[in-house]
Amino acid sequence: MKHFTSVNDVKNAREFVAAAGELKKDTYAFKHLGKNKVLGLIFMNPSLRTRLSTQRAAMNLGLDVMVMNFTGEGWALETREGVIMDGDKPEHIKEAAAVIGQYCDIIGLRSFPGLEDRDRDYDEELLKFFMDHSGKPVISLESATLHPLQSLADMITIEEFKKTRRPKVVLTWAPHPKALPQSVPNSFLEWARKMDYDLTIAHPPGYELHERFTGGLEGVNDQYSAFEAADFIYVKNWSSYRDYGKILSTDRNWMVSLEKLRNTNDARIMHCLPVRRNMVIADDVLDSDASLVIEEAGNRIYAAQIVLKEILT
Ligand code: CP
Repeated sequence: MKHFTSVNDVKNAREFVAAAGELKKDTYAFKHLGKNKVLGLIFMNPSLRTRLSTQRAAMNLGLDVMVMNFTGEGWALETREGVIMDGDKPEHIKEAAAVIGQYCDIIGLRSFPGLEDRDRDYDEELLKFFMDHSGKPVISLESATLHPLQSLADMITIEEFKKTRRPKVVLTWAPHPKALPQSVPNSFLEWARKMDYDLTIAHPPGYELHERFTGGLEGVNDQYSAFEAADFIYVKNWSSYRDYGKILSTDRNWMVSLEKLRNTNDARIMHCLPVRRNMVIADDVLDSDASLVIEEAGNRIYAAQIVLKEILT
């Protein structure tokens, strides 16, 4: 594995998820792999789970870690080609990525979308700059369109808790006061399709995701019927892909509450976190045994660790 930016960087998703599960049983078995090697984690946006779980994964493999937040710490970076840099951005991404490559053996990058220019966001400009100019393997810590480490942790969690060979997994939109990226649902669908789960997508009209991620599976607009016999319900807000970056619905009836789980096969509830309580998911779900959000966050360690291990070996 040269880079890790999507499920397509993995030869066999099912085997990779199983390997992460094995790694979890013997966390320090590969501590020698990272000796005298440095992981650099570059954050263009805030983080709790991604930052700490990836650091922990690196420590489990004996890697040293450097973290830099460009949210206020680094120079503001210019990303446009051929411009006269007479504005407020003193450093070009080309030099920044190349310099970071001098200091690190592996680079993790978090770069959210602007949610204004769809083509620009879906072109993954920043991630490509780092892959092209750093000269080092690059791991996505959530890009403009995908969050593969999160999805890998989600798959590890579903495999741990599933009660049937091919569980029914529902991805449902839920309301949120801010416009959020499509990266988590896009990525979740890519991975869940490779795992061959029985997938359903539920969202209000206008929230259809790109076919590249849905694989042509059409979303339903009725959350109640979508939840019927569900084994796992993955809750997430996203902004519209069609009316790019727009909030088209604020319908609170889409919030997931305990009452809605009656129709399910004792479904377990998942969310990548952070989650807005009583907006996206109700207290009665998050505080119940149905919730898997903490287990999911815990598995972020083993998702990052299997990726780092693969790159190191
Ligand atoms: N789920 C997730 O990526 O969390 P953070 O944004 O806190 O890293």
